[in-house]
Amino acid sequence: MVDNNRAKELKAFDDTKAGVKGLVDSGIVHIPKIFVTPALTENEFSAKNLDSDSNIVNVQIPVIDLKGINEDDFRRRRIVEEVGEACKTWGFFQVVNHSVPQHVMDEMISGVKSFNEQSSEKKMEFYSRDNLKKVKFNSNFDLYSSKAANWRDSLTCVMAPNPPTQDELPEACREELLQYSEHVRKLGHTIFELLAEALGLKPNHLLDMDCAKGQFIISHYYPPCPEPNKTLGITKHTDPDFFTILLQDQIGGLQINHQNQWIDIHPVTGALVINLGDLLQLLSNDKFKSAEHRVLSKQIGPRISIACFFTTQFQPFDTLYGPIKELLSDENHALYKETTVRDYVSYYNSRGLGAHPSLLHLRLNPSI
Ligand code: OGA
Ligand code: NI
Repeated sequence: MVDNNRAKELKAFDDTKAGVKGLVDSGIVHIPKIFVTPALTENEFSAKNLDSDSNIVNVQIPVIDLKGINEDDFRRRRIVEEVGEACKTWGFFQVVNHSVPQHVMDEMISGVKSFNEQSSEKKMEFYSRDNLKKVKFNSNFDLYSSKAANWRDSLTCVMAPNPPTQDELPEACREELLQYSEHVRKLGHTIFELLAEALGLKPNHLLDMDCAKGQFIISHYYPPCPEPNKTLGITKHTDPDFFTILLQDQIGGLQINHQNQWIDIHPVTGALVINLGDLLQLLSNDKFKSAEHRVLSKQIGPRISIACFFTTQFQPFDTLYGPIKELLSDENHALYKETTVRDYVSYYNSRGLGAHPSLLHLRLNPSI
């Protein structure tokens, strides 16, 4: 049954073009119904392992030190092993000494803060749901397809292969975006090499498959939430890309679903979080994992995070991606059909966050 009232409320919220921050600025004390996440109020949120105050789950995703990666073969082999282990077990790890300067990361976070905290008129100029736009600001890319809206506003910028012109980028974070995206692109290349090596392939294997050709950056702003137990910052999901490099501030709230438990990814000063996306799980034929994650909403904030997605979804590329042939054998048959990046992402986006994992749609024999 179509819920007309909900549809109207979604449209009214979207039409304000002021996002979740607009609601908070208006002084609300109860969150609007469109944000209430039913599963949270019923059971998920109250599970004891989710109680981050009591620290019942104290496991951490691996923190990998990239120092010496290009100077010392022995050191590099050790790092490749650590990366491989993290990708098999978690699909998530953090990196330190990754060569993105601290000031570049700090400036990126403050740039995003300034963008969101400038006058709403200026911000509204960027408000759009048009996927052909290289730069757009909105609240909940899946507002109309998800079951519950999230407590978050986002600015999306497609930075490669053809970056936006200076004028297209918002003034409040223009320099910061250009600077940060360049550094993160370089780090991305290094990570593609490490992943290929960890799969037992030549360092250039994934780069030669054009996996690093596209990059877009989503800068998230999670305003403080008056009723954090009723809604999420981001619903649980996997990322539909090759991998994501995430910069988060010190507020916390990011969690990974590991063996059916939600585990906090604590902010580590100076670190960047790397998480594998569905396309790498597909290429690796399930050797590497694309793990589910989510962000809790919090009474404190704003929380700011910047996710750099490596994907070519915005390009008209018709390259087909499937399990890498070199990894297959009589004992290890292909588990997935091939797909273009675009087709995969449009399927993923049509369903909204929180749906059944999209990768299952490509599974050759879903029963095994
Ligand atoms: C994402 C994401 C996490 C965060 O953008 O896909 O999972 O901490 N972001 O904002
Ligand atoms: Ni994500």
